[in-house]
Amino acid sequence: MSNIEYPEYSKLADIYDSVMKDVNYDLWADFIDALMLNHHPNPQTIMELACGTGSLALSLDELECYDILGTDKSPQMIAKARQKNEEKRCNVDFEVMDFLDINMDRTFDIVVSVFDSINYLHSPEEVKQFLEEVQSVLGPQSLLIFDFTTPKNSIRAIDYLHNEEGYTEDGYHFSRKSTYDSAAQIHVNSFKIKKLADDQQTVLEEYQESHRQRAYTLEQMLDIIDQTAYNLVAKYSDFEFEEADENSLRITMVLRCPNTQS
Ligand SMILES: C[S@@+](CC[C@H](N)C(=O)[O-])C[C@H]1O[C@@H](n2cnc3c(N)ncnc32)[C@H](O)[C@@H]1O
Repeated sequence: MSNIEYPEYSKLADIYDSVMKDVNYDLWADFIDALMLNHHPNPQTIMELACGTGSLALSLDELECYDILGTDKSPQMIAKARQKNEEKRCNVDFEVMDFLDINMDRTFDIVVSVFDSINYLHSPEEVKQFLEEVQSVLGPQSLLIFDFTTPKNSIRAIDYLHNEEGYTEDGYHFSRKSTYDSAAQIHVNSFKIKKLADDQQTVLEEYQESHRQRAYTLEQMLDIIDQTAYNLVAKYSDFEFEEADENSLRITMVLRCPNTQS
């Protein structure tokens, strides 16, 4: 049976944690924790945007210092996050939410988004719209922390992402094709996902998802931020406390927006 679906992060939710099995979210949470403590006087409340299956939020929760809300546009990713929250006996709240349409009547000390989620915004105008939307949940001391990947990262990653394939422990086979258009700075990852029978050969269901992301240079991102009410607090290269520059592969931005209501 073939059932081709295109919406992003619907079927991929079933295998997302297997595809990301080598990502160390505990270390990532330690890095974000250090950033929060370095740049905020007393961070207590966190909203994660585009939290996916909740791995970062759950690692942060294990530090037992924060009140955390995880949000993502994909109901399937949020369902996985809630399941993991229960299994790990954590205390994170998870909600389905589009980060371009945040409807909350409270602010958070920290709003954070990691792992290229901002690269799903395909134009500088959309990134600006995102930054303006987030303002509604920030107070004057709050921090917005997010990362993005750069064209250099896409050019480097294309070799190992393209034609990657594997099996998951719960009976799926996946393969990925990855292309990068350097003129348009668009990176496309196309996944073919097969649910296999116990014999590991018979295909029960087959799905396809295509993910389109835009890479941004540091200069482009700084130019977007300049057009908003945000101040740049810091910019870090990869997972280091080193200042990001045009050679960085993934850049973590720390911003503050003093012109907020509360
Ligand atoms: C590469 S995954 C990262 C997930 C998670 N942050 C992690 O570290 O595993 C990108 C996530 O962005 C989410 N996403 C993309 N566009 C979004 C939007 N407009 N609003 C909220 N989430 C979005 C996807 O559903 C997906 O879960």
